[in-house]
Amino acid sequence: MKGVILAGGSGSRLHPLTAVTNKHLLPVYNKPLIYFPIEKLVEAGVTDILIVTSGEYMSHFTSLLDNGSGLGARLRYAVQLAPNGLADALRLAKDFAQGEKIIMVLGDNVFEDSLKEPVQAFQKMKGAAIFLKEHPEARDYGVVEMKDGKVIDIEEKPVAPKSNWCAVGIYMYNPDVFDVIDTLKPSKRGEYEITDVNRVYLERGELSYFKLKGEWFDCGNFYWLLKANLFVAKKYHNFDSGNA
Ligand code: DAU
Repeated sequence: MKGVILAGGSGSRLHPLTAVTNKHLLPVYNKPLIYFPIEKLVEAGVTDILIVTSGEYMSHFTSLLDNGSGLGARLRYAVQLAPNGLADALRLAKDFAQGEKIIMVLGDNVFEDSLKEPVQAFQKMKGAAIFLKEHPEARDYGVVEMKDGKVIDIEEKPVAPKSNWCAVGIYMYNPDVFDVIDTLKPSKRGEYEITDVNRVYLERGELSYFKLKGEWFDCGNFYWLLKANLFVAKKYHNFDSGNA
């Protein structure tokens, strides 16, 4: 399976931290944010990874990560010309995928679960698989509606979420995903939405899911970036007992 990490976008919710660099290079305690998804993919055995980002900060990524060998990965890079959405960014992985299955991770997501078992399970699965986690602020995410243990609807940032189950930033696709992307139209906010890709698979009866058991942070705003920092820091030092 090939890995894709999205590290573009404007990072506008983190301004001015993102005024002179990219969100995915900001620190989460002792590492740049982008290290977390790379390490998760490598741990799952996915070492061929494409990093998609904007041209503006591409050289920052290559300075930091080089060819990825320091993290056990073989990295390639692709430039997304404008932040036109997650599905638009994934489209750039078509040649890189070479007909293989894809696991895409959003570069601003930090999570505890290992991806090893889902990656193995997906080798035999059709269509697409998403990852779900309950979250108190569901309206900021892609949200699923469930019935009898099945996903029956998926909406992007709904005003009135039908559940607390959010689609986190981890997605697995069969190679036909690039044909699905070609059928998409931009959403009301002008982006090619990954939720629209997932809805196509849902309508075909080919959308599976895995539930995350551990913590998950989308570091797209100050609050959750701080929460991720505190969570990772606590793993290294027991702050509660005052030890540094
Ligand atoms: O974190 C999970 C959520 O991520 C999902 O629940 C949503 O369904 C999904 O749309 C996404 O929502 P966000 O509002 O968090 O997306 P954001 O614009 O922050 O972008 C997510 C990542 O993708 C981030 O690391 C930047 C990157 N990105 C974003 C855009 C819009 C790109 O590489 N290119 C882009 O054009």
